[in-house]
Amino acid sequence: MTGKPESQDEMQSLLGRRIVLGITGSIAAYKSAFLARELTRRGAEVRVVMTPSATEFITPLTLATLVDNPVHSDFTENKEKGTWTNHVELGLWGDLFLIAPCTAQTMSAMVSGACENLLQAVYLSARCTVMIAPAMDVDMFTNAATQNSLYTLRERGVEIIEPASGPLASGLDGMGRLEEPEIITERVEAFFDVSLPLKGKNVVITAGPTQEPIDAVRYIGNRSSGKMGFALAGRLADLGADVVLIAGPVSLPTPPRVQTRIDISTAEELFEATMKVWPKADAGIACAAVADLKPKRATDKKIHKDEFPKTVELEKTPDTLAAMGECKLEGQLLMGFALETNDGLESAMGKLEGKNLDFVVLNTLADDGAGFSHDTNKVTVIKRVGVNTEMRSFELKTKKEVARDLVDMIFQINNEV
Ligand SMILES: Cc1cc2nc3c(=O)[nH]c(=O)nc-3n(C[C@H](O)[C@H](O)[C@H](O)COP(=O)(O)O)c2cc1C
Repeated sequence: MTGKPESQDEMQSLLGRRIVLGITGSIAAYKSAFLARELTRRGAEVRVVMTPSATEFITPLTLATLVDNPVHSDFTENKEKGTWTNHVELGLWGDLFLIAPCTAQTMSAMVSGACENLLQAVYLSARCTVMIAPAMDVDMFTNAATQNSLYTLRERGVEIIEPASGPLASGLDGMGRLEEPEIITERVEAFFDVSLPLKGKNVVITAGPTQEPIDAVRYIGNRSSGKMGFALAGRLADLGADVVLIAGPVSLPTPPRVQTRIDISTAEELFEATMKVWPKADAGIACAAVADLKPKRATDKKIHKDEFPKTVELEKTPDTLAAMGECKLEGQLLMGFALETNDGLESAMGKLEGKNLDFVVLNTLADDGAGFSHDTNKVTVIKRVGVNTEMRSFELKTKKEVARDLVDMIFQINNEV
């Protein structure tokens, strides 16, 4: 078997990739079960969309079980309740829309812009790359109409996985067999390898809290979970960036593909680690909740209850973000976070100017579900544009989705913002 994964790393080559797998009404639809299994085995998150005709060749239950996600084949989910499948959401969710097998009928519908079933609607809504693996009888495949559809789709940027030659279900022999699932999977892997928009970019990102020791057991800290910074690091790495993640004490696993993680504990350690890598970075994101103050004197023994001083004298910690802004080179991009307890717009603006940032992300604890520890966040981003600023407010989203928005904004991916 070609492309059989040998190591754990190879197995996880698609980790975190979002693939919408479209299945159409070909006899080869049974092979999509093997394909779905190959993709998920390599770590991809797969959501399946089937044409009504495809459900006659293979059951949605089989696919749903293999990908561990519900399968969509109808515009409406529940006719009595009036719920419907959001094809736009599905179209936007995927990093890749792979239609395998793809019938002559579906190719023709893609060319004409028909929207007669959910799969066609997802195709029309998809912003990601679309890849199709045609499968049909040799005469159907070589027919001028089919070849014309292929030509047009290729011209429009659809990637084609050419069918293989060999014995066909019709009893004939020739071109038209769906390419083997392992080969299709390799094409998908290759697509993700070369289509990474942030390949070659170095990004340094700080995340989580710092802990400033008072004695051997106590410290001044904060409630930062690190989730926002880790989501950003994961998204950047997924897009091919070389990420250095400088993390305070958090209990989060390093996101897949993040190349370097440096664990620190205090604001001073964070400063030193960051300033070492910042000069070589293309972008910096300061997401860590760094303590502004630390105890002036910390003992390395535990202070007993009755010996504890009435006051703990504090002093300032180094301001890493300000230092990054101060020595920022031409072309380097710097994003800082501002966590406030009310709307805090003025203070965020002050940070943008005072620390020479290109972006400041404001999140306020006053918003339900925003800020520390939650899996969601609601942010407003202020971007410097020459001598002016632009502001964009996002709705409450998961931190992973917020990370997508922010990375898109920094590197102008999709040019949406
Ligand atoms: C047993 C059987 C096998 C079929 N195999 C194929 C095929 O491999 N490729 C193809 O383009 N059409 C094939 N068809 C025809 C499609 O199922 C038909 O065009 C259908 O309308 C496709 O709809 P869809 O593209 O929306 O899934 C087959 C039909 C039958 C009954």
